[in-house]
Amino acid sequence: MTYNTPKRVDFLPFNQYSFDEHEKSAVLEVLESSWITTGPKTKQFEREFAEYIGCKHAIALNSCTAGLHLSLLANNIGIGDEVIVPDITFTSTANVVVHTGATPIIVDVDPETLNIDPQKIEEHITKNTKAIIPVHLAGQPCDMDSINKIADKYNLVVIEDAAHATESFYKGKKVGNMSQLTAFSFYATKNITTAEGGMLTTNDDQLAEKIRILSLHGLSKDAWKRYSNEGYKHYDVVCAGYKYNMTDIQSALGIEQLKKIDKFADKRKEHKKTYDQLLSNVPEITFIKEIDDIVHARHLYMVMLDMTKLKVTRDQIMDMMIQQNIGVSVHFMPLHLHTYYKERFNLLPENFPVATKASKSLLSLPFYPNLKEEDIIYVCYKLRDIIEEFKI
Ligand SMILES: Cc1ncc(COP(=O)(O)O)c(C=O)c1O
Repeated sequence: MTYNTPKRVDFLPFNQYSFDEHEKSAVLEVLESSWITTGPKTKQFEREFAEYIGCKHAIALNSCTAGLHLSLLANNIGIGDEVIVPDITFTSTANVVVHTGATPIIVDVDPETLNIDPQKIEEHITKNTKAIIPVHLAGQPCDMDSINKIADKYNLVVIEDAAHATESFYKGKKVGNMSQLTAFSFYATKNITTAEGGMLTTNDDQLAEKIRILSLHGLSKDAWKRYSNEGYKHYDVVCAGYKYNMTDIQSALGIEQLKKIDKFADKRKEHKKTYDQLLSNVPEITFIKEIDDIVHARHLYMVMLDMTKLKVTRDQIMDMMIQQNIGVSVHFMPLHLHTYYKERFNLLPENFPVATKASKSLLSLPFYPNLKEEDIIYVCYKLRDIIEEFKI
């Protein structure tokens, strides 16, 4: 392959999950059993995920968003409270705060890592601040030492958004085992997937019990067993809970995906090396800095375009990549630029200089285990061609 490679005929998706015969037969087994919703497979997935993380409790839910929401509710966070979230994240990190009646306090990110900036967290703490939700963007853990220090100082709860960080470690500690509560995502694009789904981990017995009850209508413990051959059991409603449980069909997928998590991670590591080799010497491309002593989950391959060296916008470059049959994305357009957050909380771009600048230059490239080396070469050559044509 050389520069000016002809356009490929098929579209290279931005993301693609990896299922094989194992997932298919696991789902079929559940369909042919007498139980398709929350039941034995979900219990097994929870057990195996808790073992993988090395934590006491893993509660399977229908999304990471549900996990974040329940984490706030379990801490009695609501009207009058404030919760600190990063500007660069998926909207659900902040939406769940709004759902509780509390106010999301959106803070700018660190210019090198694009993770939440601890110094800016401290600047935004008031007497109403109750919690911080750090987001491990693309799988790189946040500066948890600094965040935990601030949380201790002001008596705040830390709830980690680990939607991208299932495999991550921070200074030898597994993400999911460090804070009061951690929420993971198994959405279709994530490192392991159950189509939709999430998991909340904690080492706190009482919180785990409370969250289990909240996640299923507020029904008393193990209500799902009421139809089993152990005899009918009446349930009791102990609070007005939610409908956030994971089904056994999803859990069957999760159990199979978890078996392959290391294999998938190795593949993505190889892909990163190939991308780095082909893009690291392009002056118009810069990279997100990685901090020391972490294991990066490598959920996304993100670059930053140096817009001062280009005659076109990032969005125009995205359009040109798509025209070359390459799926691309942005992670993420900052919260302060979205209509709801901008208008409801009167957010101004000048108060988020780092995220505002990044919003014009971030570009995520296709990155998943099933990519072939030739796919990555094609993506890089096309990106380099476009940059070559439009550099200043
Ligand atoms: C950073 C982040 N947080 C939360 C979520 C929400 O995950 P879910 O779709 O499982 O609710 C996502 C999903 O894309 C995400 O990227």
